[in-house]
Amino acid sequence: MRTPDRDAEDDYEDYGDDEDRDTLTDVPGGVRLQKVLAEAGIGSRRHCEELIGAGRVEVDGQTVRRFGARVDPEHQVIKVDGKRIPAKPGLVYLAFNKPPKVLTAMSDDRGRKTVTDYLGDRSERLFHIGRLDYDTEGLMLLTNDGELAHRLAHPSFEVAKTYLAEVTGPVPKDLGRRLQAGIELDDGIATADRFRVIDRSGNRTLVEITLHEGRKHIVRRMLAAAGHPVSRLVRTDVGPIRLGNLKPGVSRDLTTREIGELYAAVGL
Ligand code: URA
Repeated sequence: MRTPDRDAEDDYEDYGDDEDRDTLTDVPGGVRLQKVLAEAGIGSRRHCEELIGAGRVEVDGQTVRRFGARVDPEHQVIKVDGKRIPAKPGLVYLAFNKPPKVLTAMSDDRGRKTVTDYLGDRSERLFHIGRLDYDTEGLMLLTNDGELAHRLAHPSFEVAKTYLAEVTGPVPKDLGRRLQAGIELDDGIATADRFRVIDRSGNRTLVEITLHEGRKHIVRRMLAAAGHPVSRLVRTDVGPIRLGNLKPGVSRDLTTREIGELYAAVGL
C-alpha cells in the first residue's frame, strides 16, 4: 500500500467546490488526486490540476473538479478523458519484441531461451499475455496486472492481432476473400478480419493478416490450409499496441495512453 502522501504539497490550501466533497474523494489516508495522476505519467502536477479543473478526471465514475481530493489508487478506478490510468503503484506493462527461437515462457526446464532471458533482473513477477510460437517473432505484452492479463488472454475479450507473414508462392487474387470467408481447419473454421498483400518478390509474398483468433499456430495453419505455407511470421499489433521500431530482444514500457487503450479494449 502506498503511504499517505505527506509532502510539501499537503500544505496547500484545499480549494474548489466543497459540495464535491464526498466519500469517493475524501478517502482517509488517501493520496492527492493530482499526485496520483502525475505519478501515472499524465504530466506535471500543474498540468494534472488543470485536467481536474477542466472536469476531465473521473474517480469511480464520478467527475472530480476539487483539487483537494484524496483518493485510493489501489482500489479506485481513475480515468482521464474517459480512459483508465494505471494508478495502482508497482504495476508494470511492457511491450517486448520476441526474437525467433525464444520460448514464450518465463522459464524452461530444457534450457531453451525464454522471455525472461531478455528482461534483465526485473524483480516483478511478470506474466506474458498470450503466446507466440517458438519460431514466431514480434510483439508480446508482459505485465504483473493480473486482471488485465486475464482479460486480454480470455477468448470472450479476444482483441485483434495483426501479423506479417512471408509465404511461399505468388498468392492468387482471391486469397483474402477466402481467408475472410473462413478456412476449414481440423479444429473448426478460422476467419481473418482483414488481409492484404504487402509485397511480392519471386516465389515469396509478404502478406498482412488480422484476426481475433487465439488458437495454437492459427496463422500458420490458416495460410498452409490455403496452400501458402509460412516461412516467417511476425506479430506487429496486439489490440491498440504496435510493435513499431522496437528492436528484437528489446522491451519498452507502454505509455499511459496505451495502457488506457488496453483497459478500454477489455472493458476495464
Ligand atoms: N499464429 C501462429 O501461427 N503462430 C503464432 O505464434 C501466433 C499466431
